[in-house]
Formats: sequence, C-alpha cells, structure tokens
Amino acid sequence: MKTRITELLGIEHPIIQGGMHHVGLAELAAAVSNAGGLGIITGLTQGTPEKLSAEIARCKTMTDKPFGVNITFLPTTTPPDYPGLIQAVIDGGVKVVETAGNNPATYMPALKEAGIVVIHKCTAVRHALKAQSVGCDAVSVDGFECGGHPGEDDIPNFILLPRAADELSIPFVSSGGMADARSLVASLAMGAEGMNMGTRFIVTQEAPVHENVKAAILAATELDTRLVMRPLRNTERVLNNAAVGRLLEKEKALGADIKIEDILPEVAGCYPKIMKDGDMDAGAWSCGMVAGLIHDVPTVKELIDRIMSEADTLIKERLAGL
Ligand SMILES: Cc1cc2nc3c(=O)[nH]c(=O)nc-3n(C[C@H](O)[C@H](O)[C@H](O)COP(=O)(O)O)c2cc1C
Repeated sequence: MKTRITELLGIEHPIIQGGMHHVGLAELAAAVSNAGGLGIITGLTQGTPEKLSAEIARCKTMTDKPFGVNITFLPTTTPPDYPGLIQAVIDGGVKVVETAGNNPATYMPALKEAGIVVIHKCTAVRHALKAQSVGCDAVSVDGFECGGHPGEDDIPNFILLPRAADELSIPFVSSGGMADARSLVASLAMGAEGMNMGTRFIVTQEAPVHENVKAAILAATELDTRLVMRPLRNTERVLNNAAVGRLLEKEKALGADIKIEDILPEVAGCYPKIMKDGDMDAGAWSCGMVAGLIHDVPTVKELIDRIMSEADTLIKERLAGL
C-alpha cells in the first residue's frame, strides 16, 4: 500500500507508533520500524540531550530502518532543555520528528535545515492548519477517543478526519481509537494517508512495559477510561483506577479553584512506577478508549502484518463486493 505518508517517510506500511512516555523506548520504536511502520522514541522520557542521544544510538543498533523522535511541548513554567533535545535529534541523524503539545514554529528552521520530516500531532483542524502554515510536512489528527491529551474541543474522528481532509493540503494520518484493519480502511476512506496508534502498541510482545500494564489494557473495555484535569484545561484520557477516583473526587470538591498542586500526588512522576514497576494504582496514566478493541498480545510484526492483510481483504472483498 503506497500513500503520501509511506512515500514521505520512506516506510513500507502507513502505520505510525505515536510517542508514549516511558513506553516509546528504543525496543518498541525499533520493532515498529523493523515491521515496516514508523517507530517513535519519546524524547522527554529520556529527559536530557545526553540520554536522548544514547537512546537514539541504542535504537540504531536494533534497526537500520527510519524511526522518529517525539518532542512534546509541555505546559510548564520550567521547560526541559528543548533546544538541546532538538540538537540531539539532529546530531543523531534522525529523519523524522513528531511534535505535540504546542506549535513547533520556534524549532522549524533548525529541523528543516537538517532535512528532518516534521509531523505535528494535534487535536483541532485550526491547529493542523497552523502546523501546515509553519512548514510541517504532515499532521497526526488526534480525535477525542485518543489516549493521552485529546484537547478541549471533544471532536471524535468521524467528524475530525473528514474536516481535516476538507481543509489541509499536507498529508495527515488518523490518530486516536485506531486498532486494526477496520481503523486503517476507515481512515483512508475519510481522507487520511495512514494511521497512528498508541494504546494498541502497548499491548505487544516488544513493548518494554511491565506485564501488569498489558493485562490492565486487556481487561479494560471502552467504558473504562476517564477524562482528568478538565478544569485545568489540560485534559487527559486515562485508565480508571484508584488514583483516578481520588483525582476526580478532588476535582468535584475543589471545582474551579483547583490547582495543579492539588493533584500532584495522583499525576506527578507516576509513569516509571506504572510502566516499569507495574504498580497499577500509582497514578493517572494515559490510555485510549480503544482498550475495548484489544484482546491479544501479538508481536509488533504480527500486529502490523495482520492489519495490512485484513485491510487488503476488507478493501478487495467487503468494499468492492458491496
Ligand atoms: C501511555 C501513553 C503515553 C503517551 N505519552 C505521550 C507523550 O509523551 N507525548 C505525546 O505526544 N503523546 C503521547 N501519547 C499519545 C499517543 O502518542 C497517541 O497520540 C495516542 O495514544 C493515540 O490514541 P490511541 O491510544 O487511541 O491510539 C501517549 C499515549 C499513551 C497511551
């Protein structure tokens, strides 16, 4: 299957693994790239330029296919060393960067000068148009279903993707709620050139997370995610657990007066405890509604091969036969 995304990224299949904090390590990124998709290392999980450089080097020992690095711009008063992280990406010879969280305009000149393809992940058509206007090569359009930060507009992909198709001239991939061949074929029908998956890739053999994380997603249904931090306008879709229950109680009790300090015990620094140690109630962690469509733990290659072969059957038999 050739699309504008496979051509732009030099990959075999139009499937991208989105950046995921403490999940998007070299093991997963390399497995996705080796299976013909685009794997992505999560820059902020490494934290410093030196550690990111080491992770990029480690990934290169596991794959000779293209892979990317996610750079998430956080709403924080003490930002990480973004210029240093971007320099580590450039010095590491990485070919693709996935930006998210805020407009990447400041870093576009450096990234473009280094010949890096920039895919901006965003949750609104107006943000996608902004990304296009600052020179991004593609966008990942992240619907309300997504694990992580769906933004504040609450527009699901059945509306968001065709809206993006109507407005954008750069290629885009669907993101949020994508799990299988049905997701891919529907995305293509709505104008996308491929799809980005987060939660689905956590439940694979190669995902370098504790078995409890995979078991929690397998046990979850589409009813088991919650939206937290809405009053702070930093909405995150997470898997429900004891910490999320406490967090939502605080949101209810404190109302509009709530501050980030009030919920730090439920959100700060919980990712390593969950992803590495398997302490599933340690805090609120991102998970998509797509958990309801995840029922097995294939290798990344089995997953991607299955998606591509079932997509072929869907298109040639079900759709063409209607
Ligand atoms: C555990 C987890 C951590 C994530 N961390 C990040 C992150 O650090 N930066 C980012 O841009 N997106 C992050 N995301 C969002 C994913 O890249 C992707 O956009 C999202 O998972 C797509 O929705 P899906 O989970 O329904 O596939 C995260 C998602 C999950 C599930």
